[in-house]
Amino acid sequence: MTMTDVGEGPVLVLLHAFPLDHRMWLPVAEQLADRGVRVIVPDLAGFGGAPVPDQEPSLDVMADRVLTALDDRGVTQFAVAGLSMGGYVVMALLRQVPDRIRAIALVDTKMSADPPEARTGRLVVADRVVADQSTESLVATMVPNLLGATTLAQRPVVEATVAQWIREADPAGVSWAQRAMAARPDSAADLAAFRGSALVLAGNEDVISPPAEQQSMAHTIPNAALVLLPGSGHLSAVEAPDAVAQALAHWAAAIP
Ligand code: MLT
Repeated sequence: MTMTDVGEGPVLVLLHAFPLDHRMWLPVAEQLADRGVRVIVPDLAGFGGAPVPDQEPSLDVMADRVLTALDDRGVTQFAVAGLSMGGYVVMALLRQVPDRIRAIALVDTKMSADPPEARTGRLVVADRVVADQSTESLVATMVPNLLGATTLAQRPVVEATVAQWIREADPAGVSWAQRAMAARPDSAADLAAFRGSALVLAGNEDVISPPAEQQSMAHTIPNAALVLLPGSGHLSAVEAPDAVAQALAHWAAAIP
């Protein structure tokens, strides 16, 4: 598993979105490392340098791989932040190892399972990228939703970077992850049971996990703060890395 491990201090694991890889977190990771946090940023299974698992697609397998990488480094307790799919993996980790998790940050993600039509749509995409042997079809369908209206209007370089990351994703990994996300359970009960400190953070132009969804997640978690970032969409860590780093640093500094 490719893994960036920077800084010294309490460990914060950053988990990336679909269909990207650890690179989307690097500007945030560098800022956090400068603020006394040890930041570990893995590629999730099937993305970046991490091979596609042989197992049945499941976010639990992604969570297992993260835990193996942390075990290899002797990390027992950690805080974890996940953006979108990364947030689903945070919820899988909460089910697997609640006692090891000091705090969670859920970034532009949601706690609900997919409705049937969304699940069907994922399976169509899963088949298409493998048939095409390419993720090119995802660029046109995903980029306008991943990025907020402000970024789309004003920052073509960000748009081009995200498009390139999507093109570089392995179709087999994308297909496996779509099936894993389609199979994910509702996580509201797991979040309601979490007693550590939590941050719910999102762009206020996020059309994939909109602000109302963030508010309901923040109400579900007993010790959650909610931060909505103006001018950012679903990929807040890419669109507004300074603001995301600041919010995460503030949250991380207050973890008991
Ligand atoms: C992501 O950004 O990781 C995706 O929007 C997750 C999803 O497809 O549900």
